Amino acid sequence: MYLGIDIGTSELKSQLIDNTGKIITSSHIPLIIHRPHPNWAEQSPQSWWDATNQSIATIRQKAPEAWSKLRAIGLSGQMHGAVILDKNQHVLRDCILWNDTRSTEECEWLMEHYPAFLSIGANLVMPGFTAPKLLWLARNEPDIFAQIDKVLLPKDYLRWRLTGTLVGDMSDSAGTLWFDVAKRDWSDTLLQATGLTRQQMPTLIEGSQISGTLRSDLATLWGVNDNVIVAGGGGDNAASAVGVGAVNNGDAFISLGTSGVIFVVNDELKANPHSGVHAFAHALPHRWHQMSVMLSAASCLRWLCNLLSTTENILMDEIAQLTEEQIKHAPIFLPYLSGERTPHNDAKATGSFFALRHETERAALGYAVIEGVAFGLADGMAVLGDTHILQCSLTGGGARSAIWAQLIADILNIPIVTHPASSSGALGAARLAWLADGGDEATVCQKPEIQKRYLPQPNKQAFLNKRYQVYKILYQQQKTARALLPTE
Ligand code: XUL
Repeated sequence: MYLGIDIGTSELKSQLIDNTGKIITSSHIPLIIHRPHPNWAEQSPQSWWDATNQSIATIRQKAPEAWSKLRAIGLSGQMHGAVILDKNQHVLRDCILWNDTRSTEECEWLMEHYPAFLSIGANLVMPGFTAPKLLWLARNEPDIFAQIDKVLLPKDYLRWRLTGTLVGDMSDSAGTLWFDVAKRDWSDTLLQATGLTRQQMPTLIEGSQISGTLRSDLATLWGVNDNVIVAGGGGDNAASAVGVGAVNNGDAFISLGTSGVIFVVNDELKANPHSGVHAFAHALPHRWHQMSVMLSAASCLRWLCNLLSTTENILMDEIAQLTEEQIKHAPIFLPYLSGERTPHNDAKATGSFFALRHETERAALGYAVIEGVAFGLADGMAVLGDTHILQCSLTGGGARSAIWAQLIADILNIPIVTHPASSSGALGAARLAWLADGGDEATVCQKPEIQKRYLPQPNKQAFLNKRYQVYKILYQQQKTARALLPTE
């Protein structure tokens, strides 16, 4: 049996699979985000550990037989968060998360003074990434910064609690921006830019290698063998890729979760930093990947449903009943509720509805939101370069909606496929555990069964394209108008 644990932003997910890849059971434990100031997003690392213990208890209770046969654990997690430890390995402050955009000024400063971020780091310095967060700490919380002995990513903190080892994997570490992405190693030049050294970083391994063994006190407490191994694992997107079998050059998937990601596998590093494309190592050796990342995707729909005091299922049913005429007059939505990364790199971008009228109904707002997110994905796809994607898997909470999947196929003009509700970072992490235990990649990383295929509908193209052009104009005009606001 193999366990995958994924520290998401809103929940910690665990999945237990057997040695044929079959899912035995899963658990979901909610997590809380603290937003003490505008643009801040933090979580307590202890809350991940508490959620892990709760999750293990649930899995153990649901499948006691299977649980006792556990051989390996794999880890996946939200990327870019900074967990900082002092020399006694105490957590110095709450983790600053991937969707925290307080470090805009630090990004500008790093870009101006250290162009090596673009060459060695292969990426634009954007506020979500780890390096500018540490510069923000050095400038704003110098007493804490001075005590930093180690900087860990969220899943690597969990590994430390599980095994006592300080280890990171290539895919997640690339997202710190202290990484030489082509060489798959820490970069002393980039670390020095934020006043850090290699000694403050964890040891690097590939996601499918062994990082340590479960601590014996935990093995006893949790009722498993003494020799359970913990695999390197991956950042949540790279781990999800392993979960959907996106492991070879050109394989791609879209994740519609809190963030919206288009992920493409490359057999060499393909950087395009100026358009905000993320170019990182994959969680498997000798492979890299590109990503376009929207900061708010399925979270836009959640936001609207909360405001309208309804549920996503109810709103989706209402959207399905809209006539062509109503859709023609639906507002256009900009999904930048937490700023945007690809392609704009604009932490201050905001969301908006355009073309509201007295007769606008809530279903039309709902349509505008799912369409606006799909337009955001199209913006991301446009900067991924010469990558030829034949078909794309759709995963994450948003993949449950057939209307959304069809709209994405129509707007991106590529076939979209969905899979049974099992494909996630947790599944990918469990697969990495299986690989670390000696599993063969072709067997372990199979593409999951296709639930439904959505083909682009040629009769929708002209209409959607016109709305997409308006969407693009709106962002530019909003940017101009925003600059006139007194708060800017
Ligand atoms: C990727 C990114 C997000 C988080 C979400 O660069 O910031 O996808 O990993 O968990």
